[in-house]
Amino acid sequence: MDQDPGLFDTLHSMRAMRRLKPDPVPDALIRKIIEAGTAAPSGQNLQRWSFLVVTDDDGKRFFGERYNYWLRNRFAGLIETLDPASSDGRVMNSALYLGEHMHEAPVLLFCCGKRDWPFVVPQAARVGLAPPSYGSIYPAVQNILLAARGLGLGASLTTMHQMFEPEMQAFFGIPAEWGVVAVIPIGYPQGKFGPVTRAPAPSKTHFNRWGQGKPGLAAPEV
Ligand SMILES: Cc1cc2nc3c(=O)[nH]c(=O)nc-3n(C[C@H](O)[C@H](O)[C@H](O)COP(=O)(O)O)c2cc1C
Repeated sequence: MDQDPGLFDTLHSMRAMRRLKPDPVPDALIRKIIEAGTAAPSGQNLQRWSFLVVTDDDGKRFFGERYNYWLRNRFAGLIETLDPASSDGRVMNSALYLGEHMHEAPVLLFCCGKRDWPFVVPQAARVGLAPPSYGSIYPAVQNILLAARGLGLGASLTTMHQMFEPEMQAFFGIPAEWGVVAVIPIGYPQGKFGPVTRAPAPSKTHFNRWGQGKPGLAAPEV
């Protein structure tokens, strides 16, 4: 089910695909993926998103070096302690692999959002740069991941750029009024798609009141 798997198979098999082949991805497919992103909802339908498609070696090397440095820096204490055979260990190994190979991904897609204070932050507290409106960008990010999966392309959501965002904005010429919400490396997958591993939905579901269950629907872990 690598190609056009249908909606539910797509979303149940959309794992982070971090091992990518170096083969280029046609512009037409990248466009299709971004069109899926721009089909997403956003607050007041303002569509304050912008996408930067990075395929040049200089840009990918710049991003990959810093990403890998900060990934290792951020998780330095944890890497040694994880059993590589455990689920956390496997996620970490896969994330570290991506860090090493980020610069080889055929496409890095930067998903950017216009900076905008959330309503809940009072005027007096609005100091410095506003964050991008994450809630208005993540639906697009998810559509992009689903579209990549639907087209048989591997992709994964990354956010480690937050550790070096000002430097990255300067390098790529991203204006200060925009923030980078996620960076998605995209390419043809090395491995096979397979089912995602998640806790059963009822274990995360409450019914009528927090902590209450309902047979067949809600069995919350409390
Ligand atoms: C908000 C967010 C930030 C993430 N940041 C990173 C990241 O910086 N690097 C990375 O390799 N994966 C990142 N991930 C991917 C998660 O590790 C991945 O979705 C999770 O482990 C489930 O993996 P699976 O979909 O393959 O089962 C991020 C996911 C989310 C939702």
